Amino acid sequence: MNEYWDTRYQAEGKIWGDSPSRTADYALKLFQANTVKSLLVPGSGYGRNTKLFSSSGISVTGVEISLAACGMALEFDPLTRVYQTSVLDMSRLSRKFNAVYCFNVLHLFREFDRKRFIRQCLDRTKNKGLMFFTVFSEKEPTYGKGASVEPDTFESKPGRPVHYFSDADLKAHFSMTTILETGLMEDEENHGEGPHTHILRYIYVRANDKSQ
Ligand SMILES: C[S@@+](CC[C@H](N)C(=O)[O-])C[C@H]1O[C@@H](n2cnc3c(N)ncnc32)[C@H](O)[C@@H]1O
Repeated sequence: MNEYWDTRYQAEGKIWGDSPSRTADYALKLFQANTVKSLLVPGSGYGRNTKLFSSSGISVTGVEISLAACGMALEFDPLTRVYQTSVLDMSRLSRKFNAVYCFNVLHLFREFDRKRFIRQCLDRTKNKGLMFFTVFSEKEPTYGKGASVEPDTFESKPGRPVHYFSDADLKAHFSMTTILETGLMEDEENHGEGPHTHILRYIYVRANDKSQ
C-alpha cells in the first residue's frame, strides 16, 4: 500500500488539487458547533483537508503512510504536525483528540483491518469525542469491478481492495458509538481520467462515554 501511494504522489503531485473536499467543509461546521480544538486526520495525504481545519484555528495532527505525501504536506500545510506511520498502528501518538476527520481511507482495507482502524481511532479520541468518516458507497460506478475478495469488496488491482458501503453496513461498523448522522454526498474530483463525481457516504458519530 505504501509503495502504491508513494509512486502515485511522486508521479501525480497534488492529485486532488489544492481545495478541500466539500465533506471537510461540512465536517468543519459540525466541529465548530461543538468547539472542537484538537483533530486527528488519519490518511492525511499532502494536506488539502488538514489545511482547512488548521487554518480555522484547530490544532491538527495527521497520520500518513506515504513519505512523499508527508514531504508535500510539510510545505502545503505547515500548521499540521504529520506522523509518517500506518493508521493501523497509531501507538506513536500519545495524546488524545476532541475529534477525528477521515476522508476515503476506511474503504481501502479488508474487514479485519477496517475494524482495527476504527478501534485505533476510538482509542485516540477523548471522552465522548466526535468522528466524521467518508467512504465509497455501493452507488459508486466502480462497484463490482475486479475480483470479489470479501462481501462488497473488490480488487481492481491485486492487493488493492476497495470496500463499498451501504448505509446499514457503515452503521454496523460504528455500532459501538452513538451515531449522530449518516448520508450520501457527491464529491467532484478532477484527476486521472478527468472530471468525475464520487458518490460517498459519510458517518458522524460520538464515542460513547468511557468513564461509565
Ligand atoms: C484516497 S487517499 C486520501 C488522501 C487525503 N485524505 C485527501 O483527500 O487528500 C488515501 C490516503 O491514505 C493514505 N494511506 C493508505 N493506507 C494508509 C495506512 N495504512 N496508513 C496511513 N495512511 C494510509 C494514502 O497514502 C493516501 O494519502
